[in-house]
Amino acid sequence: MSDLTLAVLAADRLESLAAFYAGHLALRPRFSKGSRWARRVLSGPGHEAWLLGWLPGQGTELHDHGGRGRPAAAAVAVVSGRLTEYTVRPGSFPTLARAELAPGGVATVDDRTVHAMRNDSDEAAVSLHVYSPGLDAMRTYLFDETGLAPSKIKRAGEDW
Ligand SMILES: [Fe+2]
Repeated sequence: MSDLTLAVLAADRLESLAAFYAGHLALRPRFSKGSRWARRVLSGPGHEAWLLGWLPGQGTELHDHGGRGRPAAAAVAVVSGRLTEYTVRPGSFPTLARAELAPGGVATVDDRTVHAMRNDSDEAAVSLHVYSPGLDAMRTYLFDETGLAPSKIKRAGEDW
């Protein structure tokens, strides 16, 4: 008997699941004035889905999806509003790439990516995120002219 919880889903599967859940789950997003609102809404074989609500100006720090266990790959589907993703392009002099995500758009994030997501618009936004394996922690990073440096480990259920 195989242990499906150890399976890690491929990027195209994550993308399909994020789009499917965004369109088919009964989503009841909320918003928090303090920071983005996040809740795990589904746990499936080798993956889990989170629903996030973002007020204008809210966002994450630069982060990866590791911290305790194996880093997670992810797919992000925008349900409503617009989000901006900032992705670190590694190299001798790392840079940040910026991408806009509109409703219906799905972005994939591999297990080595360091990125941040922000609602840079004037309207609230809702997004559905699928992680494989499930997300138990995120490692945050500082980024300046000297490069990229790990900062903190933030744990699901404790820090967000
Ligand atoms: Fe992320």
